[in-house]
Formats: sequence, C-alpha cells, structure tokens
Amino acid sequence: MAKSKKSQRSTEESLTQSAEETRAFGRKLAGRLRPGDCLLLTGELGAGKTTLVQGLAEGLGLDPKEIISPTFVLIREHDGKIPLFHMDAYRIGNARELLEVGLAEYFQRSGITVIEWGEKVRGSVPSDAIEILLEIVKGDLRRIRLIRPKKS
Ligand SMILES: Nc1ncnc2c1ncn2[C@@H]1O[C@H](COP(=O)(O)OP(=O)(O)OP(=O)(O)O)[C@@H](O)[C@H]1O
Ligand SMILES: [Mg+2]
Repeated sequence: MAKSKKSQRSTEESLTQSAEETRAFGRKLAGRLRPGDCLLLTGELGAGKTTLVQGLAEGLGLDPKEIISPTFVLIREHDGKIPLFHMDAYRIGNARELLEVGLAEYFQRSGITVIEWGEKVRGSVPSDAIEILLEIVKGDLRRIRLIRPKKS
C-alpha cells in the first residue's frame, strides 16, 4: 500500500484482484472508522462500490448479504453496534434530494454513513469525509484510492 501526503490530504492506494479482495479491504477499513464518519464512494458502474460496502458491513458485525445498492430507496439503515447508513446518489439530480430524505440528520446519529456516487453530494457532507475512488483497471483488477482530508 503506497502512501503519499499532499498538503493536508493523505492518500493510500491499493489494488484488488477480486470481489473478495475488495470485501477484505472494506472489512479492514471498518476497523479504522469511528461513529460519525462519512465515506464518499466514487467509481463507474460495476467498479465495486457496493462490494466494498459489503466488506465494511461485515467488519462492523453486520450481515453482508443485506447490503444491496439502495439505488431506488436512496438510503438503507442497518442497525448494529455501530449503525451503517448506506446511501446511493446514482439516481438523484443533486444533493437536495438526499437532503430532503434527511441526509444531514444521519451525521448526528453516531453511525457510519457511506454514499455511493458520493461525488454528487460532496458539498453537503462533513468536510472531513473520507473519499474512496474505485477504478476498473482491467478485468477484475481494481485500483482503490482512499483520500482523507487530514492525516489522523
Ligand atoms: N476486484 C474487484 N472488486 C470488486 N468487484 C469486483 C472485482 N472484480 C470483479 N468484481 C465484480 O464487479 C462487480 C462490482 O459490482 P458492484 O455492485 O460492487 O459495483 P458498484 O460500483 O456498486 O456498481 P453500481 O454503480 O451499479 O452500484 C461485481 O459483479 C463483482 O463481482
Ligand atoms: Mg452499487
């Protein structure tokens, strides 16, 4: 895993070669998160955003089988020791539509908020949100970049 620092941002880059490796990335990431954290997932259709959330859920002690893209409902809540709020901004025109279904309130609720197509709502989430960019390199190979606004 390569690390680099640019001003206040820290970037980590990983490669995964299968969906299971991306789930493992998510499981490991879960252990580094705290209640109240927000993750923005960016990457084209099929890049592996939902797959990563499945790993994240597992790492939080939730059933990964319950994780499906909340494309039509916008938000799915998963209750556990640390709740997971899984959102999908794919179908929305702008952040207002997620704000209307209560986006801002989720940040007060001591859970982990993860938003697929998160780049669409970047201006409406806490400034310390973690960005995860998933890129299809070739076949099953994915590049995952994790960007934290501040080193912590
Ligand atoms: N390295 C990999 N990481 C993640 N998924 C992979 C990988 N290699 C192959 N895949 C496959 O790619 C697909 C990723 O689907 P997934 O639903 O996670 O993508 P998504 O980014 O959430 O797409 P959407 O934008 O439609 O919600 C799955 O079928 C998965 O098995
Ligand atoms: Mg998805």
